Amino acid sequence: MTVSRRAEQIRPFVVMDVVARAKELEAQGRDIVRLEIGDPDFPTPEVITRAAEIAMAGGSTHYTQSLGLPDLREALALRYRDHYGVEVDPDNIVVTQGTSPAMLLMFGALLDPGDEVIMPDPCYPAYPNYVTFLGGVPRLVRVRAQDGFRYRPDEVRAAIGPRTKAIMINSPSNPTGAVLGDEDLRALAQIAEETGVHIASDEIYHGLDFCGPDRTVLGYTGRSFVLNGFSKAYAMTGWRLGYLVAPPEYVRPAEKIQQNFFLAANAFVQQAGVVALTEAQSEVARMRAIYDERRSYLVPALESVGLKIESAPCGAFYVFADASHWDADSLRLCYRLLDEAGVACAPGIDFGDGGQGFLRFSFAISLERLHEGVERLAVWARGEGLA
Ligand SMILES: Cc1ncc(COP(=O)(O)O)c(C=O)c1O
Repeated sequence: MTVSRRAEQIRPFVVMDVVARAKELEAQGRDIVRLEIGDPDFPTPEVITRAAEIAMAGGSTHYTQSLGLPDLREALALRYRDHYGVEVDPDNIVVTQGTSPAMLLMFGALLDPGDEVIMPDPCYPAYPNYVTFLGGVPRLVRVRAQDGFRYRPDEVRAAIGPRTKAIMINSPSNPTGAVLGDEDLRALAQIAEETGVHIASDEIYHGLDFCGPDRTVLGYTGRSFVLNGFSKAYAMTGWRLGYLVAPPEYVRPAEKIQQNFFLAANAFVQQAGVVALTEAQSEVARMRAIYDERRSYLVPALESVGLKIESAPCGAFYVFADASHWDADSLRLCYRLLDEAGVACAPGIDFGDGGQGFLRFSFAISLERLHEGVERLAVWARGEGLA
């Protein structure tokens, strides 16, 4: 049997192996504090669930337009106007089954074999995999804790070549929790305008910003694509609903990919999405306040057990902590913490070489479990003579 080179090139998502090992230990009766997962611990707000039930009962169980229900695209455009003060034409929005398929639509519409995409190292592991899968070339640009894990604009500029099609950004970031400020976005937009590349902005953690208002790249340059979805802020990971905002000339190409590969997003889920946007904002704010409380606890608590956090997260629900003085090999350390301390986290190496030596701790879990996890880490570190 031969497996395609394209499939072979996809790097496994190591954190999923950690999840499998954690489940194995739990099946053996061990209690594991699960800080490795990026899935909100909150149930989806009831107003959204109810809307889906009503839509389903009302017969919303058929294909929709490939671009998505007009009501949802209009509700999204209104949200951009009300929340960000940015005008988005509903015609430039393609509704997808989560943010992940939106990446395929975007990169599929943008890249020819050999084209390059600049992305931060460390970054969400799917980015380089999507690009490679489509025959493109990821150009990794290191981001460092001392810079708040933000690009240095001169390094981005230096990485741009004749085949560069886009600069990928993800703010708030998985895995670092870094948020790009007005100045960062201005600088990147200027580079895009001057060089003719696009900005591809994954804004899935918007709504989970703790240090100030979230800013969409759409407010900075027309050369931008936005990927977003309902998974994180609305606690809807299992629903599979997202969207792409694209420059007008890319909408039809993205639509053709959608028509052929996915047809459309789930009809009743799209209807629930309208209600999420219009009626669940207070629930989003409530969940964000709880994440913020956990963040305020977790950052100093991890420091107190000996981990180094040079750049505390300003968004998303992850703390990216330097553990290289415990073990330079983050994967090995991750498995040791799982087996020996009963704490699961994600190894930094999963997010690129720039993440080696770091551990990602998710706070999409109750404060009580965070306390337990930190206590176990403290006992483990003392036992190892590390704290
Ligand atoms: C940065 C980032 N983008 C995209 C996704 C995937 O989102 P979705 O569930 O909408 O496909 C994730 C999921 O963890 C993520 O962390």
